[in-house]
Amino acid sequence: MITAKTVREILDAVRIEEVIEDFVSLRRRGVNLIGLCPFHHEKTPSFNVNPTRNIFKCFGCGKAGDAVTFLREHEQFTYPEALRWLAKKYNIEIEEVELTPEQRAADQMAESLYIVNDFALKHFQEQLFDTDEGKSVALQYFRQRGLREETIRTFGLGYAPDLRDLLLQRARATGHSVELLKKTGLSSADGSRDFFRGRVMFAIHNLSGKVAAFAGRTMSNDKTVPKYINSPETEIYVKNKTLYGAYQAKKAIRQQDECILVEGYMDVISLYQAGIENVVASSGTSLTEGQLNLIRRNTNNLKILYDGDPAGIKAALRGLDLALEQDLNVRIVLLPEGEDPDSYVQKVGSEAFLEYVAREAKDFILFKTRLLLEDTKGDPIKKSSLVKDIVASIARIPDPIKRSVYQKECASLLDVAEPALVEETNKLITQSLKKQEERKARAPEAASDSPDAQPNPEVPVEDPAFVRPREKNMARGDEYQERDIIRLLVQFGSQTLPEGISVAEYILADIEDSLGNFDNPLYGKIATECHDLLFQGRTPDVEFFLQHDNPAVRELAVDLMSSAWELSPNWEERYNYPLQNQKPPEENFDLDARKAVDLFKIRKIEKMIQVMKTRIQAAEKEQDDELWTRYMKILMKLNETLAEIGRKSGMVVRPK
Ligand code: GTP
Ligand code: MN
Repeated sequence: MITAKTVREILDAVRIEEVIEDFVSLRRRGVNLIGLCPFHHEKTPSFNVNPTRNIFKCFGCGKAGDAVTFLREHEQFTYPEALRWLAKKYNIEIEEVELTPEQRAADQMAESLYIVNDFALKHFQEQLFDTDEGKSVALQYFRQRGLREETIRTFGLGYAPDLRDLLLQRARATGHSVELLKKTGLSSADGSRDFFRGRVMFAIHNLSGKVAAFAGRTMSNDKTVPKYINSPETEIYVKNKTLYGAYQAKKAIRQQDECILVEGYMDVISLYQAGIENVVASSGTSLTEGQLNLIRRNTNNLKILYDGDPAGIKAALRGLDLALEQDLNVRIVLLPEGEDPDSYVQKVGSEAFLEYVAREAKDFILFKTRLLLEDTKGDPIKKSSLVKDIVASIARIPDPIKRSVYQKECASLLDVAEPALVEETNKLITQSLKKQEERKARAPEAASDSPDAQPNPEVPVEDPAFVRPREKNMARGDEYQERDIIRLLVQFGSQTLPEGISVAEYILADIEDSLGNFDNPLYGKIATECHDLLFQGRTPDVEFFLQHDNPAVRELAVDLMSSAWELSPNWEERYNYPLQNQKPPEENFDLDARKAVDLFKIRKIEKMIQVMKTRIQAAEKEQDDELWTRYMKILMKLNETLAEIGRKSGMVVRPK
């Protein structure tokens, strides 16, 4: 593991513009640099790099972060990979601390598996290109299927001759361990035979281009042998988190802001060769949550190409509600009868292929509605179960505006009243919210803190703590005051106040009682987390936020760092807060922190005052003198506290 000291050294050395310029051409605009965003397709530059704050932000797609985030997103690096890349760039020697024996063993195991796969890839390629049999049989086969040599190399295709243990022999001769061959599934469990024999080979890459597994295709048409056989799952090959072709496609997916999903290995390769590079395959299974996450990291737009019979397609559609939950825009394309993407693109060429796809793409929910509607003709029972099915799909869409558009369209397609559809959808959403609450009550941490949680069978509704606060339209509740508290934590949390304590300590000690009262759950979560951190004797600093596991926190941190000294529009009038002669916030975090805390407390107290007033009215109505007196006392106390804060801070706080 890289030591904290080295991490600090690396982060201190990094200049964001130098890192990004390795990938994106930038030009200066004022103090910032701008360029075309590498994360989405655009013609006019909205990708901003801010050298002063060492961060980037795209005002088109919203991607933002520091140099490490950039490398993680752009190159799909892990955190340590990004650090190592930066260390190399800035000639920083990496100091490592000992891993635990288990960690080291796992790391080494993964590394050895990649090494043995790489050895096997070279072997299969050699057999394909450099042997007579390979050339005449396998290379010939690929050529017949229309593949060019360049494509064959890009996808790591190869050949395993029909020999009992050629790979095993080669491994022994070159000092590779037979144990590892067994583990990757390249040999039989007893180490006596090769697993892939008499097949053309397909390397399956991970996202950084290392070979994680193989698939082998028979070249015969014999229906009694399986067409494809695959490596088993290992530490480095988790099937439901792998999409075939993702390594080769990722750049194009980002640039075109769309991912095309097909079924087969050959479909991916063939389309890529035809210049349609944003293609991945699910390898014949239905999409998993892990695969959808992979897609969503790069785009929100998914186009699924289907070939085959309606029954198969209906089965496939069932799995797709998962994509709706993730807020993906899913479109479906049915290929002409008897064609798969591979055969069709080879037949008509890429231009006609793309035209067809653009013309035939149908919105997923509407497609599903129409397709299933064909089966229900005149059958009321079938129809009512169809309506339920569609409603269940719609209920999974997190965006309420999108939901209402679908409700309208589907109501008309299904010929049912829109309000009825809306009511049904809301019922499902409420049910699932309730279940979610119950689950949270049972396991408070697990329910909200794990973004990788198991796919859950009911309609999941987005965890509010993971929803990014909207920048506009924020005036809900105490958003401004809460946001300002978080801004101070991000910008100055680790700076020291004249009293010798950090800004974070000052803020969080002073609002400790209100930690559970945040209106915005994300802000509340952050405040509580920072509070816990302080408790452990650590101080939240900028890095803590920028490298946070929760992407919503990372994004918020960047927003707050790039946001200028912002005040809620009405606080000056409202509190007559002395804002004259203000220094810029960098020099003024002391006063800044005190003000923010005061305002936060004022808002919370004002709220409690309102609550007391309603209770007092209710008590009056009920003629409950005892309660009335108690609430009156609390009200007076609250007003006193309010006045006290006003006196101390010089703010004019109107009595309530
Ligand atoms: P070609 O037939 O060579 O064009 O390959 P394809 O990739 O088009 O295959 P197909 O459309 O028949 O199947 C789609 C995908 O399902 C394949 O790419 C494989 O990932 C998977 N698949 C197909 N047949 C088998 C099989 O027999 N076993 C396994 N494990 N997977 C298969
Ligand atoms: Mn095919």
